[in-house]
Amino acid sequence: MHVLPEQTPALIRLRDYRAPAWRVETVELDFDLGIEATELSARLLLRRDASQNLPLRLDGENLQLLSIALDGVPLPATAYRYTGNVLEVDGARDGSVLETRVRLRPAANTALEGLYLSGSHETGFLLTQCEAEGFRHITFFPDRPDVQSRYSVTLRADRARFPVLLAGGNPDGSGELEGGRHWARFVDPHPKPSYLFALVAGRLEKIERDYVTADGRAVQLKIWAEADAIGRCGYAMDALERSMRWDEQAYGRNYDLDVFHVVATHDFNMGAMENKGLNIFNAKCLLADPDSTTDDEYRHVEAVVAHEYFHNWSGNRVTCRDWFQLSLKEGLTVFREQSFSADMNSAPLKRIEDVSLLRRAQFPEDAGPLAHPVRPAQYSEINNFYTATVYEKGSELVRMLAGALGRAGFRRGMDLYFERNDGHAATLEDFLGALGDANGTDLMPYLAWYGQAGTPRLKAHGRYDAVRQEYTLTLAQHAPGTAGAEPRPALPIPVKLALFDRDGGMLPLHLDGQTSEGITELVVVLAQVEQRFVFGNVASSPVPSLLRGFSAPVILECDYTPGELALLLGHDVDGFNRWEAGQQLAARAYEDLRDGASADALQAWCAALALLFDSHGIDDALLADLLTPPGEVELAERETAIDPQHIHHLRQRLQLRLAERLGAEALHQRYLALAAHTTIDMDATSQARRRLKRRVLELLNLLDRARAGELAAAQYHDAPGMTDRLAALTVLLRGQAPQAASALLDYRTRYADNALALDKWFAVQAQIPDEDAPERVLMLERDPGFTLKNPNRVQALLGAFVRGNPSGFHRIDGAGYRLLAERLIALDALNPQVAARLATAFNGWQRLESQRRGAARAAIAELAGHHGLSRNLAEIIGGVLN
Ligand code: PHE
Ligand code: ZN
Repeated sequence: MHVLPEQTPALIRLRDYRAPAWRVETVELDFDLGIEATELSARLLLRRDASQNLPLRLDGENLQLLSIALDGVPLPATAYRYTGNVLEVDGARDGSVLETRVRLRPAANTALEGLYLSGSHETGFLLTQCEAEGFRHITFFPDRPDVQSRYSVTLRADRARFPVLLAGGNPDGSGELEGGRHWARFVDPHPKPSYLFALVAGRLEKIERDYVTADGRAVQLKIWAEADAIGRCGYAMDALERSMRWDEQAYGRNYDLDVFHVVATHDFNMGAMENKGLNIFNAKCLLADPDSTTDDEYRHVEAVVAHEYFHNWSGNRVTCRDWFQLSLKEGLTVFREQSFSADMNSAPLKRIEDVSLLRRAQFPEDAGPLAHPVRPAQYSEINNFYTATVYEKGSELVRMLAGALGRAGFRRGMDLYFERNDGHAATLEDFLGALGDANGTDLMPYLAWYGQAGTPRLKAHGRYDAVRQEYTLTLAQHAPGTAGAEPRPALPIPVKLALFDRDGGMLPLHLDGQTSEGITELVVVLAQVEQRFVFGNVASSPVPSLLRGFSAPVILECDYTPGELALLLGHDVDGFNRWEAGQQLAARAYEDLRDGASADALQAWCAALALLFDSHGIDDALLADLLTPPGEVELAERETAIDPQHIHHLRQRLQLRLAERLGAEALHQRYLALAAHTTIDMDATSQARRRLKRRVLELLNLLDRARAGELAAAQYHDAPGMTDRLAALTVLLRGQAPQAASALLDYRTRYADNALALDKWFAVQAQIPDEDAPERVLMLERDPGFTLKNPNRVQALLGAFVRGNPSGFHRIDGAGYRLLAERLIALDALNPQVAARLATAFNGWQRLESQRRGAARAAIAELAGHHGLSRNLAEIIGGVLN
């Protein structure tokens, strides 16, 4: 089948890149702010590239042009043309000054791109979002990241309605105006691309802290939020300070302005935004207090605060030449943030969390029709490329480079990268070039990773020769989707490995005759399609531990026996690989259950976990993760005709077997022991206890609903904080406990005025994996708290349903698909970015079993035939159908 959306939008291609014909040296912006109407004047000092003889063309998206003048002379209508997207001006020269005045309608802006209103007309505030191409919704400009300019911004507004006026850069004066109005000016000394421009105006409160950078600059840190939220900003302030110190120590990077503003909003399309000197955060990534924030969310806040702060160097001081290089800033910054989080918390747990996310979000993306390289070759709508591939896989690529260079070498490379490219718009070649040059090595072979989509497969096969005491490891790589396609270059794949003897001890490694005393772990790089590595002096047949720490983003295929995986699960000292062995074993057990095959893997898995459960030598949080089999999305990746409801039931059976093996009594006793320590403390031990307590209660709930229901009901009411409360509520709902209804009602009332907590009330219900899931979503849509206008609420209900509830969404009659398709049409008219992101839930429908596939196809085809879809949604729907 081939259904094309209405209009096939033009593609932008990497290979068509041209340097800008016109640059802007300085920008002066002067805003008269109002909720219904805002007017602004822009004064651009233009620089022309003499080698390109092109007329002045500026981006400008449906702007209401009030006046235009060139070099002080108002232009007659014959001297410019405006198409609604592009403004062309005659007569501009190098050094010309263009002045325009436009009127904007912030309150009518539901797309949340450009200048918009957060909250109500009466009490809300104004803010901007410019990445990737929002600045052209504000004024006429060459809106591309390789045009870097110095900004001076003046804001004027009614003082009572807009007491706080903020823009990026350093403050440069403020004062009173007639008629109860006031003004404030900000000057940014650092040239920046337009996507980093930001302003905020309204009634906001702040918390402040003084900070002195390692190189001696006094900086005021200010976090702003509405009055009801300012009390929940303290944790973010601490996280910000930790991030700033860490970047000084780990990368030698100091902050470079006198103030650093952070603002929280409930109306935001993404997580947060790194605008220079004025970061803007989705409230859910900034606010935290024990009563409404879970432990996982606390760690997320810390990570996002760090991420946006780190962008000040990886993104702002060194920015991207074009949007194809997006991973240059995002992959790198995710990697920096992951390293920071690993240092602040538990490194193995962080690695488990990150790899789980990669497998849940990025692997399926990379295996379906929306797959794209970390550096895409083309796009129609850039907002559709803020993907798990660009972010998460991009980070994995940086991790491989960092691993190849070692700690000191990577630091040397990063120093050179920042030094060479400071103030410039760079490419991935610049990045690999600097890392390589600083270390006298060539990293360009890694560029191949950036140019090809799909998750490579790594086949490993070991052979032991008892006579020669040799162990030969054969590694082979296989790129996906290569049948019939052009042959692809072999990728460099770093494989960190160790060898274990059958008692779980690590063997010394003697690779290819080299004797390296006392080495028990090393990295081999597979640089060809297939390679052999021979280890000598191996006294007995070993068990290899491969890809330790997940040293490359590949799918490993290795012919382990269940006993070998159990050995690694029991003994591997690499916390990540220990968990990974358990995941592999659980996946085998799952497949055996499905196929009615032998129970060897299941028994090995349960026995190894039972041992770990009883031994007290293991961290509670790691144990909780070990007791959790791969998720339904990951399991589905192993199937060809996917039946998500069947997968759900099989996974439940798998967990039931584990619970039976551990035993109701033991689970109950462990629960009580953990519950005896219930606190609200945020230290690692307390968080780990809560995590294990939740897991134990979930397992008990599979065995003995009545008993677990009572424990959960008590836990719900006595919970000192959100982690325990939400865990209890989830268990009550999953077990269909009689106490569930009253707990739900209690929660709804308790958090009626707390948007972030209320989001979780929607999400937890949207994820109940039963037959009534679509109807439950319809019912929840009628709750007065539901609205399609707030992206967080849409994510909480619809996002949680389509992503967090595979068996409910994929109900065999197609009700889930029709529901999603209908909502996408309504949502697209309000907010195309959010609609397009939600629509990616249709990705992978081709691999569903036939009845669901037919229902999904019908829903998507009908959507594709709808008139007037946004470019965002049309690109996703068109892609998904392919
Ligand atoms: N650049 C933001 C980040 O840190 C993400 C973002 C993209 C936010 C586009 C808003 C719009 O990752
Ligand atoms: Zn980012």
